[in-house]
Amino acid sequence: MAKNAFRQGLISIKEIDKEAIECILTKSGKFKERLPGALLKGKILASLFFESSTRTRLSFESAMKRLGGECIGLAGKEESSLSKGESLSDTIRVVSGYADLIVIRHPMEGSAKTAEQASRVPVINAGDGANEHPTQTLLDLFTIQESQNRLEGLNILIAGDLKHSRTIHSLVIALRHFNPCLFFVSPKGLEIPDAPLHYLREAKVPFSFYSSLEEILPQVDILYMTRIQKERFSQPSEYERTKNAFHLTNASLVQAKSNLRILHPLPRINEIASEVDESPYAYYFPQAENGVFVRAALMDTIFNGIT
Ligand code: CP
Repeated sequence: MAKNAFRQGLISIKEIDKEAIECILTKSGKFKERLPGALLKGKILASLFFESSTRTRLSFESAMKRLGGECIGLAGKEESSLSKGESLSDTIRVVSGYADLIVIRHPMEGSAKTAEQASRVPVINAGDGANEHPTQTLLDLFTIQESQNRLEGLNILIAGDLKHSRTIHSLVIALRHFNPCLFFVSPKGLEIPDAPLHYLREAKVPFSFYSSLEEILPQVDILYMTRIQKERFSQPSEYERTKNAFHLTNASLVQAKSNLRILHPLPRINEIASEVDESPYAYYFPQAENGVFVRAALMDTIFNGIT
């Protein structure tokens, strides 16, 4: 699998096996030590972000430029002819004649698959609605490994809006390869859907549910938090009911294991107090920085294969 993995891009984390993931993580580590300057010289990345982004878009563009390539792109539906009624398929068909690789974020679940079907060049899913965010998962796995010196056999607590978080859906599916013990905490009504849990059951990964962080926090190696995803709520009152469900402070961490590291895909709203940023447990800013190395490794693999 690994040899030809990623040749068509990356739409879902379900497509790739453990070996392919490990190849990307190894290459990401090498790129973090030194990013070779001209690996993607002559290549053009089209970054099409029809939903807002800071980290994903800019880290892809930074990675492409650092590898010697160039970028074109759109930020927001209003900037493109989608606003005139053009279909996503037509847009992608045209853009695939302008670039060697397309990265797309779009609010509709399944949009990245639609883009792949319309494109003549590889497509990377940078988030399709509440469905998946597979490149975030690659950087999350890299960061977990970096912060714990291993990926296998960790106790991982995942907390927040688990229903709407595409980051969580992709991460949970990928973690099945690494023998974790998973714990979930979410507000009522925002529980993780059954689809990602199906992959855990199939791989015989143990998982359980808790009603508060404090109950299970002293046992875990990784606390992965995510925000309540305001943009996915059809009822504003539901967002108002749940938006303050979490507020992690230094006091919440007094019983934490010394190796605990806190990850968050960002942006954070108020689920982690800023005082936690200075604690030895905070690892979400290095996590965001790793996006450049991991996305560089992915793009290099798409064009140059596993090396
Ligand atoms: N983690 C993440 O997807 O961040 P952005 O929305 O800023 O890209």
